[in-house]
Amino acid sequence: MGKIISFANQKGGSGKTTLSANLAVLWANSDYKVAVIDADAQKSLTYWLDARKKYYGEEPMGIDSYAFDPRNLKEDLKKIKRKYNFIIIDSPPSITFETIQIVKSSDYIFVPVQPSPLDLMATIPFLNVAKEERKKTTVILNRVMPRAKLTEAMIMRLRYAGAKIARSRVSGKIIYAETFSVGRGVVDISVTSDASKEIINVGNEIVRNF
Ligand SMILES: Nc1ncnc2c1ncn2[C@@H]1O[C@H](COP(=O)(O)OP(=O)(O)OP(=O)(O)O)[C@@H](O)[C@H]1O
Ligand SMILES: [Mg+2]
Repeated sequence: MGKIISFANQKGGSGKTTLSANLAVLWANSDYKVAVIDADAQKSLTYWLDARKKYYGEEPMGIDSYAFDPRNLKEDLKKIKRKYNFIIIDSPPSITFETIQIVKSSDYIFVPVQPSPLDLMATIPFLNVAKEERKKTTVILNRVMPRAKLTEAMIMRLRYAGAKIARSRVSGKIIYAETFSVGRGVVDISVTSDASKEIINVGNEIVRNF
């Protein structure tokens, strides 16, 4: 039975779409059956999928996509769950009816957070929503700067707020933005790059925790 994984956070620009795309590629390239749902009206993940189709042409992508209908999300997911190992939902940056439906329908919620005080402030209310729904929720630190003392301080604050934090972190690297714009993931380019190692670690940590 497939796992429904959402990348969600009220805070905009925290890395939800970047991680959705990169993990979809990682798992699809590892022969898992993967589907994505772009739940954000900005449609960044849909743009990425279209770019991917252009880049790879007729080659089968290994990533299916489904439309987002918040009113029928649970039923829609029930229908497709058996066909996939992972169904990834890229959530919009809000706490609205739509996001709550995503939270309710997810088996696991991953919350990308940039380790900065402002980002943290916008993240805590979302973590509380997930907690109220009694969902397994893990923070993934994104755009982490090397050796920044601030990162450790932010980790303390998140722990104090009761958050579970993934051991694997994603650093700030231009390759994430570059690959996204052409519909690729970092592991498409090379599986041994530093960025790929990060994505592989995040992916493995997610799979290990199921
Ligand atoms: N680790 C990273 N290193 C460098 N750039 C990154 C990284 N993660 C995300 N970005 C860039 O930051 C911007 C925001 O990322 P992304 O779109 O994934 O966030 P989001 O949470 O989906 O945003 P939104 O809330 O608007 O949906 C993008 O331009 C993306 O390329
Ligand atoms: Mg997004």
